[in-house]
Amino acid sequence: MATVVLISRPAGVLSKVSSSCCPTVFAAASVTTVQQRKLHHAVIPKGKGGRSSFSGIAATVFGATGFLGRYVVNRLGQMGSQIVIPHRCDQYDLMHFRPMGDLGQIIFMEWDARNKDSIQRAIENSNVVINLVGREWETRNYRFEDIFVTIPQHLARATKEAGVTKFIHMSHINADIRSPSKYLRNKAVGEEVVREEFPDAVIMKPSEMFGREDRFFNHYANMRWFGNAIPLLGLGKKTVKQPVYVVDVAKAIVNAVRDQDANGKTYALVGPNRYVLHDLVEYIYAVAHRPFVPYPLPRPLYHLAAKMFAMNPFEPWTTPDKIDRFHTTDMKYPGLPGLEDLGITASSVEQKAIEILRRHRRFRYLEAELDETKPAKTVNY
Ligand SMILES: NC(=O)c1ccc[n+]([C@@H]2O[C@H](COP(=O)([O-])OP(=O)(O)OC[C@H]3O[C@@H](n4cnc5c(N)ncnc54)[C@H](OP(=O)(O)O)[C@@H]3O)[C@@H](O)[C@H]2O)c1
Repeated sequence: MATVVLISRPAGVLSKVSSSCCPTVFAAASVTTVQQRKLHHAVIPKGKGGRSSFSGIAATVFGATGFLGRYVVNRLGQMGSQIVIPHRCDQYDLMHFRPMGDLGQIIFMEWDARNKDSIQRAIENSNVVINLVGREWETRNYRFEDIFVTIPQHLARATKEAGVTKFIHMSHINADIRSPSKYLRNKAVGEEVVREEFPDAVIMKPSEMFGREDRFFNHYANMRWFGNAIPLLGLGKKTVKQPVYVVDVAKAIVNAVRDQDANGKTYALVGPNRYVLHDLVEYIYAVAHRPFVPYPLPRPLYHLAAKMFAMNPFEPWTTPDKIDRFHTTDMKYPGLPGLEDLGITASSVEQKAIEILRRHRRFRYLEAELDETKPAKTVNY
């Protein structure tokens, strides 16, 4: 009978268990692993499923400090998982994670994406590795090739070498080697290298995500700072978007962690409705109770303006690449499984927009009901 040996801890704290104790972990054991892993008694599922029980999941979440990361960590913590958060930021920027799990279940660890040892240290005690590393703009130190190809490749390789059987990688619905956006071209290459290194990886392809801290709805809503007029390529009438709610994506990741059948699959994660970009931004302004004054801007001019913003060494407001990405129509993947295959009913923009956009209202509209806003027109193409 297979005995999974997980954690490199002193022999005294290791206990061998039979497959009857932990069917999920033993299903994973049937997959060929590079390294023999021992199962620490602390990762045997126990309890009723709340944050003080143990789900059997010990996950390392790379990129947890980003937008999606907090939702993933929160859901994993809620069901009683152990979570390792590799980070490179100040301790104070991690405070929000502490209440997300039971005492001692959230472990912080400094890492450097270019240091193999730090990657190995971060995953050596886990049975799940999730890669949420991403960046919307390039920096002097990290180009898109580093973020979307080299780092995922190293993470996938280290995960394989460590004998971990679950690796989840985030890509993008529009990842395409022919895309005008360098971000999306590199995402496409990233998918390939991850598959090569770790054939059983679960690849998630979400469309633009919306949620309280997003850089999509908030980006358009904040454009009013620049004089209330919203520049859109071709007035946004040639672009179709199918945004997905960030919590749905987080739930999909957690469900994929628990579902052995998800291994080796690629999921297309999109919202329930498709909108012409113009109508979507109009809806954003309607919910925010702000005047919507769009104007068409030719691509070269928009790029020129964006290049100025891109010179910001901190977080640029926009970049030419972001403009291209936002004006790319979301691809349809009828052949790929989606949210419903992971047991999730996608939330619509109309259900959740108020959560994000209330803060953009003028104070006298703060309490105004959402019902007053006409839903955005949806399209099928
Ligand atoms: N947001 C969307 O709408 C969307 C849509 C489709 C796909 N995705 C993909 O989904 C994933 C998560 O998205 P997100 O919006 O949560 O990303 P995000 O907010 O930009 O967070 C990215 C995370 O990656 C980390 N990171 C970036 N560069 C790094 C580096 N050089 N070394 C170490 N860590 C680094 C960041 O750490 P620091 O905090 O230290 O910078 C942060 O934790 C990304 O792969 C993204 O491309 C996002």
